[in-house]
This record gives sequence, structure tokens and C-alpha cells, in this order.
Amino acid sequence: MEAESTENAIETRGLTKRFGRFTAVDSLDLEIARGEIYGLLGPNGAGKTTTIKMLCGLLKTTDGRAQVAGMPAGDRRASADIGYMPQEVALYEGLTVHQNIRFFGRVFGLSGRQTDEREEELLEFVNLAEWRDVLVARLSGGMKHRVSLTCALVHSPALLLLDEPTVGVDPELRVSFWDYFTRIKGRGRTIVITTHYMDEARRCDRIGFMRDGRLIAEGTVPEIQSLAGKEDLEDAFMVLAERSEGGEAA
Ligand SMILES: Nc1ncnc2c1ncn2[C@@H]1O[C@H](COP(=O)(O)OP(=O)(O)OP(=O)(O)O)[C@@H](O)[C@H]1O
Ligand SMILES: [Mg+2]
Repeated sequence: MEAESTENAIETRGLTKRFGRFTAVDSLDLEIARGEIYGLLGPNGAGKTTTIKMLCGLLKTTDGRAQVAGMPAGDRRASADIGYMPQEVALYEGLTVHQNIRFFGRVFGLSGRQTDEREEELLEFVNLAEWRDVLVARLSGGMKHRVSLTCALVHSPALLLLDEPTVGVDPELRVSFWDYFTRIKGRGRTIVITTHYMDEARRCDRIGFMRDGRLIAEGTVPEIQSLAGKEDLEDAFMVLAERSEGGEAA
């Protein structure tokens, strides 16, 4: 389903998540356009995963609102439009690669044949075609990540929420993942991706830098560089983090 009510794939206003007294995500305002690759960066515990989970409706928001694929976050009508890859791989270890993909295909209402067609293409892309009938329990960590990405992509969603999709994936394959992301962006897909890799951050159209639950800087790579007065992105984030601690607006 493609909702036309807004230009943006994602819009949040004051999006907040508290766990007890602890605020994990603090009044987040995001506007992510359709067809954009948006990188969510920030140190461990910054609130990236919590944000993604609220966007795909796995976590209830404490405050604020979020519109995702034209629907309020968590609305089941948007689920066919969303592909979510969790940070922690969630596959059925006792099933084969093929059976896992079949399962996810069925969840999204694809027929066996439709799933098989997608599966072939996707397993080729993640370079796992010959592992199709192997139990997931027998795969390496990086391979499981690749299957997990396949499962998130099986229904050709318009919006991809990818939580560290390239962790443990070897450099060569990481490059081919990014080529693929760029290709599907060209077909109008929106991708929100969390990463700790600066080379990946550089490939995003825009980056949001989170820290302590807040978005402390946002923009294109050149904008972030000029905001911080640093060419190197890692240095730029250090400067912006220090500034935010000093209470100065980034
Ligand atoms: N279910 C929970 N209950 C209590 N606190 C939580 C829960 N989930 C997350 N948190 C806390 O919220 C904060 C943000 O966590 P989150 O997983 O969103 O960070 P992250 O930016 O994804 O970090 P990482 O880079 O390590 O993946 C952390 O301090 C974490 O301990
Ligand atoms: Mg995380």
C-alpha cells in the first residue's frame, strides 16, 4: 500500500521513549523523504535501535508522534510497506535458509512462487545461493546477517529500516550491499540505516547524529563537516558531541 498523504516516508514530532525514569529517545523530530538514504549514527546507547523499533511499531512510544509510510507508527496497514532488519538476528535456527525466507514471505502475503522468485534474486545478491537448504543454526554470524537482510527484503518494501545490517559482513560484500541499497533507492525506495562505519555514513544522502537520545546534528556529509569545521567525519562527530555536552546547539 502506498499512501500519498505526505511527501515524507517518515515524520516524527517529539518522538520520545522512556523506560521507567530513563529517557532513551528524547523528543526526536525527523523528516525523511521518500527515496532518501538516511543514516542514523551515534555511540552505543544513543537510542538508534529504540528509535527504529518505535518506527516499525515494535515498541510503543511514550510521547510524541510518528508517521511511517503514511500511517501512524505501528499501524498494521503499513506493515507491507516496511522491511525491518533487527540488530539482533531473529531467524528460526532450526529451519533452513529457504524455509526462513518462505516464512517471512508468507507473513507478508506472498505466494510460494512469488517468494521463490525473490529468494533466488536475493540469495544471489547476498551470495548465499548454495546455502539455501542449510539449517540457519549451521551458518556463521555474518551469513545469518545476510539471511536476515534477505528476509527483510523479501516483500520488496517501499521503506527499509535496517539496524546495523552490515555488522560482521565482510568488506567485499559490504560494498555490494551498498551498491544494492543505491540501486533500490533509484527505484524510489527509502532506507533508514544505522551504522558505526564512517564509509557507510558517507554514502547516505543525509545523516542524523544521535547522542543520549537526542538528535544533536543532522544534514548531508558536507553540511556535517562544515557544521563541525572538520573534514574527517569521526572528528566532526567528536566536535558535535562535545558541543552538545556544553549545551551549545549543534
Ligand atoms: N527494554 C529496555 N529497557 C530499559 N532500557 C532500555 C531498553 N532498551 C534499551 N534501553 C536503553 O536505552 C538506551 C538506548 O538503547 P539503544 O539500543 O536504542 O541504543 P543504540 O543507539 O541502538 O546502541 P548500539 O549502538 O549499541 O546498538 C540504552 O541506554 C539502553 O540501555
Ligand atoms: Mg542499536
